Amino acid sequence: MRTAVIRKEHFNAAHRLHNSSWSDEKNHQVFGKCNNPNFHGHNYELYVKLIGEPDRETGYVYDMKKLSDLIREEIIQKFDHKNFNRDVPEFQELNPTAENIAMVIWQKLRARIDLKYDLKITLYETERNIVEYPGA
Ligand code: NI
Repeated sequence: MRTAVIRKEHFNAAHRLHNSSWSDEKNHQVFGKCNNPNFHGHNYELYVKLIGEPDRETGYVYDMKKLSDLIREEIIQKFDHKNFNRDVPEFQELNPTAENIAMVIWQKLRARIDLKYDLKITLYETERNIVEYPGA
């Protein structure tokens, strides 16, 4: 009886999408407003989904307070009100697209969550632009 539980969290962060091996013109053409040299922010909505068997004694798939604390510690404290390009070590060499942010979130949480759970990350960069990372 595998069941999914989902915790929703939120953070604000700034980024700039840029490929340093391209010309300024090509960067602008490909990344548009997200290439702004002075950065810009997004209000990210994060959905962390765990899939597993409800525990016989508690009836919980996962303690949501523990999940909330884990996301706060691993993700929110490190990303909220930060500049991805400048403040977050994982994005020194990695373009902070929603795809890559979702993948980094998955990696950080995967390291802390028992492998008996499947882990999926959904990240809203805007209300209309959404990325899902199902894990590898
Ligand atoms: Ni952007």
